[in-house]
Amino acid sequence: MSVEGWRLFGVALAGILFSLEFCSSQEDPNYTFMHNATSAPTTAYYDYIIIGGGTAGCPLAATLSQNYSVLLLERGGSPYGNPNITKLASFGAALSDQSPSSPSQRFISEDGVINYRARVLGGGSCLNAGFYTRAGTQYVRNVGWDGRLVNESYQWVENMVAFEPPMLQWQSAVRDGLLEVGVLPFNGFTYDHINGTKIGGTIFDKDGIRHTAADLLKYANPSGLTVLLHATVRRVLFRTKGRTRPLAHGVVFRDTSGVKHKAYLNDGPKNEIIISAGALGSPQLLMLSGIGPADHLKAYNISVKVDQPLVGQGMSDNPMNAIFVPSPVPVEVSLIQVVGITEYGSYIEAASGENFAGSSPQDYGMFSPKVGQLPTVPPRDRTPEALAKAVKQMEALDKAAFRGGFILEKIRGPLSTGHLELRTRNPNHNPSVTFNYFQDPRDLEICVQGLGTIEKIIESKSFSQFRYDNLPLPVLLNMTANSPINLLPKHKNVSTSLEQFCKDTVMTIWHYHGGCQVGRVVDADYYVLGVDALRVIDGSTFSYSPGTNPQATVMMLGRYMGVKILNERLAAGESN
Ligand SMILES: Cc1cc2nc3c(=O)[nH]c(=O)nc-3n(C[C@H](O)[C@H](O)[C@H](O)COP(=O)(O)OP(=O)(O)OC[C@H]3O[C@@H](n4cnc5c(N)ncnc54)[C@H](O)[C@@H]3O)c2cc1C
Ligand SMILES: *[C@@H]1O[C@H](CO)[C@@H](O)[C@H](O)[C@H]1NC(C)=O
Ligand SMILES: *[C@@H]1O[C@H](CO)[C@@H](O)[C@H](O)[C@H]1NC(C)=O
Ligand SMILES: *[C@@H]1O[C@H](CO)[C@@H](O)[C@H](O)[C@H]1NC(C)=O
Ligand SMILES: *[C@@H]1O[C@H](CO)[C@@H](O)[C@H](O)[C@H]1NC(C)=O
Ligand SMILES: *[C@@H]1O[C@H](CO)[C@@H](O)[C@H](O)[C@H]1NC(C)=O
Ligand SMILES: *[C@@H]1O[C@H](CO)[C@@H](O)[C@H](O)[C@H]1NC(C)=O
Ligand SMILES: *[C@@H]1O[C@H](CO)[C@@H](O)[C@H](O)[C@H]1NC(C)=O
Ligand SMILES: *[C@@H]1O[C@H](CO)[C@@H](O)[C@H](O)[C@H]1NC(C)=O
Ligand SMILES: *[C@@H]1O[C@H](CO)[C@@H](O)[C@H](O)[C@H]1NC(C)=O
Repeated sequence: MSVEGWRLFGVALAGILFSLEFCSSQEDPNYTFMHNATSAPTTAYYDYIIIGGGTAGCPLAATLSQNYSVLLLERGGSPYGNPNITKLASFGAALSDQSPSSPSQRFISEDGVINYRARVLGGGSCLNAGFYTRAGTQYVRNVGWDGRLVNESYQWVENMVAFEPPMLQWQSAVRDGLLEVGVLPFNGFTYDHINGTKIGGTIFDKDGIRHTAADLLKYANPSGLTVLLHATVRRVLFRTKGRTRPLAHGVVFRDTSGVKHKAYLNDGPKNEIIISAGALGSPQLLMLSGIGPADHLKAYNISVKVDQPLVGQGMSDNPMNAIFVPSPVPVEVSLIQVVGITEYGSYIEAASGENFAGSSPQDYGMFSPKVGQLPTVPPRDRTPEALAKAVKQMEALDKAAFRGGFILEKIRGPLSTGHLELRTRNPNHNPSVTFNYFQDPRDLEICVQGLGTIEKIIESKSFSQFRYDNLPLPVLLNMTANSPINLLPKHKNVSTSLEQFCKDTVMTIWHYHGGCQVGRVVDADYYVLGVDALRVIDGSTFSYSPGTNPQATVMMLGRYMGVKILNERLAAGESN
């Protein structure tokens, strides 16, 4: 089988299925501090107001509540008791549900890639594929974090939500293939980011139940914390009279009945508002609050507090490209468990499944057009009609065609960046976002190199059991003849250019970040430049995606900054 042939085969097949049979539900901790925003008073006072109960916001709120009164405002609902979140097999269900009460909100970047943001307590950790892995020590050093506190904070997160995944045959073959093609050494099971091949962690426990950032609220001091659900923050309020810099002192939010509430900071020089609304939400909320490019804000009649042209700049999304490898023998159902960390900057991961051609939401996953992944046409052609057509064709296929798995790559960084702008003044509406995938030629080069490694893995001895040696086989031929699956993008020269393959088949691995970057919008302590008593703490502050997958570091950052804030106040001689 030629490299070309694998590539021909390789365009991600619709729908890996993670249809595992799992236990029914995650234990609801019945948090006494969690309420609907409808029950909130019209005005209330706290030491800290945190906007966004996501992957960073939850650990931050839990930590600050130890010694201060904290309000955590989340626009979505509770993750508990919702099997679409709890169960691994429901990955596709949570993403494809686009009702107003869904935990996911779809957005499509100007690049044409279909993507998602969270709308639920626990944030992206309620929707994600669960892979858990730390940032590298070099990353920690470059960012300037305190390495010891970083390690303690990761540990604190891991004690509650991280587990070792099962390793069955197919994932083991990927691991052995990575080693055979020279992604060395083998580092065993570890959360650490080290060059070579390793088995990483997962937030799914041994029973396949998801543990999210919302579980980190078990660490909270219940008498110090108020969590309001279905509370959509409209803007941050500033005091400007008699001040050289605006002082953040309150927020306006709405409940589901549309009733407006206000929350203010208690008097005290150290009390703060912290935005943790994610890589789309945080720059959006800064702009809605009057911090952003003045001309852009004026065009939306937003009164300008600080002219800050860098808000919304530096948006990045690491491209994901994948190759589907049909298998002659049954394979286990698996999510990402193994990663090859190559020195040239491609992270190679894999997922497998068997009966992923079904029509129920349980029957598709990470690579299904039902969740917007349609690499068979270039991003700009991924119209609703094209998606619907692909779904229909997929459903008509023989299930055997879907037996196998995907080997995917995410590239480090990336270096390519884009930008975010408002579309309306409504915080519920998605802003417009552009990622400019592969705009930097160095990103493209890494993608091409990564595809080369993936092709070698497929052809490795270790992987021989899980590939056909004599393609095309009848069923697969039929597949290519009748379906969108494994057809290359309709682009003239694609078969001769891996560069074009990278561009045409680009999908997202949902690790988008930036918009409120350290050194540009916030300082090294995450304070928003140009105003007082306001920080941003979440993935929007990153310049590069940490580790191979970011969630561990986002949760760690929430804990880390919480501890740092407590320690600083303690050192300043304050008690309660
Ligand atoms: C489908 C998917 C798969 C992924 N797979 C993995 C994986 O396997 N491993 C991994 O490490 N990472 C993965 N990720 C990435 C990871 O989950 C995210 O990077 C991370 O969750 C981002 O955290 P955050 O705190 O920056 O934002 P979020 O977790 O999104 O938190 C932001 C929160 O703010 C709330 N909010 C926004 N605006 C407002 C407002 N105006 N008022 C009130 N609340 C507001 C949102 O509802 C949300 O809950 C995946 C992500 C997705 C979506
Ligand atoms: C939460 O409440 C439910 C229903 O009352 C109960 O079955 C469950 O055991 C409680 N969970 C915990 C952790 O207390
Ligand atoms: C909270 O509000 C949501 C949305 O309005 C509603 O679906 C849910 O039932 C409410 N929960 C409680 C406990 O009142
Ligand atoms: C789960 O997802 C399915 C389809 O995506 C949707 O119809 C259903 O309402 C969701 N269930 C819950 C509890 O949100
Ligand atoms: C943090 O932990 C990693 C291993 O997980 C280790 O390599 C590193 O030296 C530790 N850093 C510090 C400052 O202790
Ligand atoms: C801004 O205000 C002006 C004058 O009140 C109005 O004409 C215009 O439509 C407003 N623009 C937006 C985007 O709301
Ligand atoms: C790991 O790879 C990076 C390049 O991605 C390189 O800079 C670094 O030196 C390598 N680390 C070790 C310990 O070899
Ligand atoms: C191809 O599929 C059709 C039905 O879609 C079937 O009738 C035919 O036998 C298949 N051909 C081969 C060679 O398997
Ligand atoms: C396709 O390849 C031919 C010959 O290699 C070249 O002349 C042509 O410009 C290419 N077209 C595109 C769209 O890249
Ligand atoms: C928290 O408050 C307690 C009691 O006031 C005090 O003893 C402790 O030092 C404080 N800890 C931090 C980290 O602020």
